[in-house]
Amino acid sequence: MDSDQSETGSGGAVGGSLIRKGRVRSIFSSLVAGRGKRLPPARKLVWLGGGLEPAVARELIEAGWDVMPLPLDDDAGVSIGQAGAAVAVVDFADGDDALVARIEALISAHLELQWLAVASEHTLSLPRVCELIHTLCFNFFIPPLHDSGLAVSLGHAWGKAQLLAPAARVAARQESDFGLVGISPAIAAVREQLGKFAGFDMPVLLTGETGTGKEVAACAVHAHSALRGGPFVAVNCGALPENLVQSELFGHERGAFTGANTRKIGRIEAANGGVVFLDEIGDMPLEAQSNLLRFLEEQTIERVGSAHSIRANARVVAATHVDLERAVREGRFREDLYYRLNVLHLHLPPLRERSGDAEILARYFLDQFRRRHRTRASKFSAAALKAIAEYSWPGNVRELVNRVHRAAVTAEKRLLGPVDLGLASGASAGPSLHAARAQADRDAIAERLRSCGYNMSECARRLNISRVSLYRLCRKYGLKNDLLALLLVPFGSLFCFDADASPLLATCVQWASQAASLLPA
Ligand SMILES: Nc1ncnc2c1ncn2[C@@H]1O[C@H](COP(=O)(O)OP(=O)(O)OP(=O)(O)O)[C@@H](O)[C@H]1O
Ligand SMILES: [Mg+2]
Repeated sequence: MDSDQSETGSGGAVGGSLIRKGRVRSIFSSLVAGRGKRLPPARKLVWLGGGLEPAVARELIEAGWDVMPLPLDDDAGVSIGQAGAAVAVVDFADGDDALVARIEALISAHLELQWLAVASEHTLSLPRVCELIHTLCFNFFIPPLHDSGLAVSLGHAWGKAQLLAPAARVAARQESDFGLVGISPAIAAVREQLGKFAGFDMPVLLTGETGTGKEVAACAVHAHSALRGGPFVAVNCGALPENLVQSELFGHERGAFTGANTRKIGRIEAANGGVVFLDEIGDMPLEAQSNLLRFLEEQTIERVGSAHSIRANARVVAATHVDLERAVREGRFREDLYYRLNVLHLHLPPLRERSGDAEILARYFLDQFRRRHRTRASKFSAAALKAIAEYSWPGNVRELVNRVHRAAVTAEKRLLGPVDLGLASGASAGPSLHAARAQADRDAIAERLRSCGYNMSECARRLNISRVSLYRLCRKYGLKNDLLALLLVPFGSLFCFDADASPLLATCVQWASQAASLLPA
């Protein structure tokens, strides 16, 4: 003990509450050399926040840990990603609300690690901290940590982490939060319901405003259901030309109509043994609705031009951002189909109703971006976080992703401010009537563009304006910037700008080439 203390004391750097990464490594090396024996390769351990006392650090190093202390700052997410550790310890300190929110975001973003918590008895009296530790941590320790069995517990956590291959660890992370990042009670309730719904082989109806995560939830239903080994086939019912809906969904026989030169398997049949995701189901024509109802009730379909029924076993997950009850009242949606779909109904709440989530998601998307791209941006200024918290996010999480990524692409400085996010002008005072109208126009166009698969002609037709006007409005409402941003990054990262555009490279190419036509000559 004495010799340990003198070694520590003479080192100086270990005397503080935080130990620098390099210093810990050098102590590790000197221990190895001093003992004249070869230790097994060090297992990496991330230590977040304060609370790493010298004696504890030495204990861990002697137990073969390569300890990497990191401050709980805005860079923590990126540093964790780069650390290559399988285990992390996080110090909850006094359990301050903002700190707990940050810790939850970090743990949620790195569930591929096994987490151990350090918390005082006082901090453990806070319900939020208890719930977080209970749900997300492998174990927890109350100081003093010296001789507390921490090293043994870390060994078990490391062993548990090794049970999963790295790729599976990432998948496990995505699975455990269903891909839906956030700490608000509203999103926690969504995750809980998703967990329950996924296991039942019944249709699921997802509702919610644009950009709230309906497609993410649909993927989660598939990934967590018994059908996860089967296909996930997504169909945007709103983007299908009316005369082709039946054939797209149910398939057709050769010669069924002019141009049907070969037999075509429909999307529902293609999803056999998996999930068919019917996006924008509110836009499905009535005739196709009848056939869908028959499929839901009898699990049979008929290809267009055929009199034979075929069995198809696909789970239907439907999504819409329109009010289906109203569509039923207005005769645009079949009532019986609505009731058939509405059994397992999950509503994705708008971001403005998820308190605390916008800041956490913003940090999460910036971290994600930084792991994939070089950018000057590394964190948000206090003013930016305030603006993010106060803005109403009409385009919900999609708008947040886009604003953060655009800011990261164009950032000149390390610190992102409200201006970088386009949230500078009195977001808290609420928009003027003019701004609100412009925002509504912008959202309508953005939404139509997405639902038309970024086909400008089709979009212009649906909006009842000319293509020229559509291009002009895209420029006017900054949609041009979205498109330009796409061109600023390599193709491999297109999905960063709008996940809607990601599944189909063809769509991306089409979008990018349309964007090119927006560039100044
Ligand atoms: N809670 C969340 N955590 C992380 N990412 C999210 C979350 N919710 C949504 N996203 C991201 O936001 C974007 C929009 O999500 P998604 O496409 O699922 O929305 P949507 O409800 O289907 O929108 P729309 O009605 O316009 O089709 C995607 O990039 C998605 O990955
Ligand atoms: Mg969607």
